[in-house]
Amino acid sequence: MFRVGSINIENALLLAPMEDVTDASFRIVCKELGADVVYTEFVNSEGLVRGSEKTHKKLRLLADERPAGIQIYGSAEESMINAARIAEEENPEIIDINAGCWVKNVVGCGAGAGLLKDPEFMQKMIGNVVKAVKIPVTVKTRIGWDSKSINILEVAKRLEDVGVAALTIHCRTRADAHRAVPDWTWIPKVKKVVSIPVALNGGVMEAADAVRAFKETGADAVMIARGAIGNPWIFRDVKELMTKGGISEPVNEEIRIKACLKHVKLAIGIKGERRAVIEHRKFYTGYLKGMRNVSPIRAKLMTLYTYDEVEGVLMEYLEELRIKN
Ligand SMILES: Cc1cc2nc3c(=O)[nH]c(=O)nc-3n(C[C@H](O)[C@H](O)[C@H](O)COP(=O)(O)O)c2cc1C
Repeated sequence: MFRVGSINIENALLLAPMEDVTDASFRIVCKELGADVVYTEFVNSEGLVRGSEKTHKKLRLLADERPAGIQIYGSAEESMINAARIAEEENPEIIDINAGCWVKNVVGCGAGAGLLKDPEFMQKMIGNVVKAVKIPVTVKTRIGWDSKSINILEVAKRLEDVGVAALTIHCRTRADAHRAVPDWTWIPKVKKVVSIPVALNGGVMEAADAVRAFKETGADAVMIARGAIGNPWIFRDVKELMTKGGISEPVNEEIRIKACLKHVKLAIGIKGERRAVIEHRKFYTGYLKGMRNVSPIRAKLMTLYTYDEVEGVLMEYLEELRIKN
């Protein structure tokens, strides 16, 4: 059971935090399709403390996406405490701390997965963040820095001891980045040493993977990242597989194209047309994946700046697909 503050969900499905992907529009798309809890992109604690408007904007949560978690990252205790307080003002259901990011400039400052190198400091810093806010604090981390220093059992226990409300474990090491096959066997081992909810992350690319993850590991929740890009239906499909044993409406080309348009429209309502249309370019590969003669269509979409143009190209393409079918 994923029990965190007011959230109480069995076999919960979480949309992972993803920089440049999980903005409000994508979070709402996934929410509508069955994600139980969604997370913001990671938000830099130093930027928040400095008062950067661009960073602060990432905290904004809309009514349609709740329950939601705001994820913050950093390694300076004071900044993390202050950032958590600033994030708390946005009223998220969860504040999540990133202890898993592998990229050089993040771990180089001791943040993200860099925290795994000093579990004692990690525990103290996160414990003080927990004390500084009233809402639940969760942590997303990895199983260890590299295969020689897997310390998730120690880390999990330490974090539970200082009041962390739940853990998400990306079942790879920092050295693995996003590449190696994730080792889900750590989930039941972690569940043996802590009693807070444990969410599994890593390698859930299709609905059936999530079903297997719940079954094989007893995870309280499954967090999906790349598997949701271009396929937000994954959340709905997992639920149908879990409850009915099959998927009622396989996603066809028309559903994909219309969802892509709905997504960009939603984004326009949130951040304005030009920015939304430009930022939507990263989603075309996912939404249009596997469709016939799609390369020139994608190339054309990359040059557009207005919704009407995007709709024109996509609806004409859909018509072509229908004629050839
Ligand atoms: C484009 C992208 C951006 C990401 N940004 C974040 C982030 O901001 N915070 C975070 O904790 N993890 C981030 N991650 C890692 C994912 O949340 C997740 O842990 C990882 O992709 C493994 O899950 P998956 O196998 O389901 O993709 C990111 C991953 C991707 C692909």
